[in-house]
This record gives sequence, C-alpha cells and structure tokens, in this order.
Amino acid sequence: MAGIFDLTGRLALVTGAGQGIGAGIARHLAAQGARVVVNDIRQERAEATAEVVRRAGGQAEALAFDVTDREAVRAAIATRGFDVVVNNAGNAGAQLMHPRRFRDMDPSEWAGPIDVNLHGVMNTTHAALGGMCDRGFGRLVTISSGAGVVGLPIGVAPYGAGKGGALAFMRHIAIENAGSGVTANSIALGMMEMTEVHDAALVAKLAASVPCRRLGTGDDVGPAVVWLASDQAGWVTGQTIHVNGGGLTT
Ligand SMILES: NC(=O)c1ccc[n+]([C@@H]2O[C@H](COP(=O)([O-])OP(=O)(O)OC[C@H]3O[C@@H](n4cnc5c(N)ncnc54)[C@H](O)[C@@H]3O)[C@@H](O)[C@H]2O)c1
Repeated sequence: MAGIFDLTGRLALVTGAGQGIGAGIARHLAAQGARVVVNDIRQERAEATAEVVRRAGGQAEALAFDVTDREAVRAAIATRGFDVVVNNAGNAGAQLMHPRRFRDMDPSEWAGPIDVNLHGVMNTTHAALGGMCDRGFGRLVTISSGAGVVGLPIGVAPYGAGKGGALAFMRHIAIENAGSGVTANSIALGMMEMTEVHDAALVAKLAASVPCRRLGTGDDVGPAVVWLASDQAGWVTGQTIHVNGGGLTT
C-alpha cells in the first residue's frame, strides 16, 4: 500500500514557483514523488527551482508562461494531464506591490492585482478542469491570503479583492464538481517571508505581530499543499485552510 500523502505518479503544476513560497511547494510535492512542472513568468526563475528539485532527487521541468494570458495557459495545460494544479502566482504579478489607500489609487492600478490573483486562477482552472473530471481525479489548490478574508489597513484593497474572489471561486468549483474525484481548496496565508524584503528591523517587527513569533515560509506551506493534493484528502473540498502562525483568521 502506498504511504500516506504519497504522490508517486502524479503530475503537478505549481504556478509562480520560481521563488518564494511556490518554490517551497514545488520542493515538497517532488519530495513526495510527484513530477512537478515549475511555472514562472520568468524562465530563469522556473529553471532555477526545477534545478533545485532535481538536485534533491526529485523530478521537475521548467515551463515559463504568464498565468494572466489565457491562450498561453491553455497551450501549456491542454496537452498535459495535470493531476494537481497549485495556483501560487500572485502578489502584484510581475510588478512589485505598491500599497496605497484605495481612495488615492488611479483605476489603472486595480487591474494587475485582480488579473493575477483572480483571473490567473480562473485561467488555469478552466484549462485543467475538464481533463481532471474526465480522468476522475484532480486536485486544485489556490494560495490565497488573510487579505482575502479580513479587512486590513495596509493599502491592499484590490489585492484583497483578487484574493477573496479566488477563495469564493474555488468554493463554487468545489461544489460544481463534487463527486467527480476533483477537489478544490484554498490556503489563506498570513505574514510570510518576502523575497524582496531584506530590512531586518522590518522583518523583526512583522514577525513580532505573528502569534507564533516568526514569519511563514514555503516549508510551512508545502506540507499543507501535499496533504490537499493527496489521495487521503479526497473528502476535503471547498475549504479555506488558514496557514498563518495563529494570526489573521476570521
Ligand atoms: N509573501 C507574503 O507575505 C504572502 C502573504 C499571503 C499570501 N501570499 C501569496 O502567496 C503566493 C506566493 O507569494 P510569494 O511572496 O512567494 O511571491 P513572490 O512574488 O516572491 O514570487 C512569485 C513568483 O511568481 C511569478 N509570477 C508573477 N506573476 C506571474 C504570472 N502572471 N504568471 C506566472 N508567474 C508569475 C514571479 O516571477 C515570482 O517568481 C502569492 O499568491 C501571494 O499573493 C504571499
């Protein structure tokens, strides 16, 4: 009998996995035996993560595309029978986040966060779902945020709308497809280590605000994704799992 959370033989896509949390998710899925397709909008980042996975003895291939480009997503997914799709590409997409109060924003600033955090998730789901249903197995996991669940005073309203929209979307996909062997769940993250933030004083301040007294990493998220991707999680669908060190829950 296969071990618990064994993913041998499963083909998994992790979007935006060229760095940060997505890279951790890719490593953990591969460590459980999955063949991992490492996506990023930036080819060199996807290659770097795939190389890390292979060096650790896992199976990984890099595949660059933009999750907000529906045709590119369809082309990447159509010919591959993904068992697991992890929607991790997010934040402000290829740009850095520029938090601002909504009333000070120009409407042109809304499109990016909605596009990557909501439309990107819809694009991959639409491209992968039919095949998953036909094969009678699929695991859709979306990496969302506490910002999609509660209001925050940090200038990220459009991001929160994208993340909250993705949470609602996954619940509908879960129920539309319940009983088909396909599950759809989300992970709402709290304060995580950020690749672009190197200010030790800021990191310490943010960590102090987390009940568990540290920022989360890909090693906190990867095992939760492994569980949701496993055969054993087949009765878990339409859920939002909070992985946040004890903070930011409803
Ligand atoms: N870092 C945090 O504090 C935090 C908190 C809560 C939720 N999250 C969510 O976790 C996920 C990962 O966050 P992170 O901090 O590791 O991200 P990151 O910004 O460090 O890395 C994301 C990767 O996605 C790639 N990417 C961006 N736009 C893309 C697109 N359109 N198509 C394909 N790839 C694209 C980037 O090139 C980058 O390599 C995101 O969905 C983010 O919103 C992060």
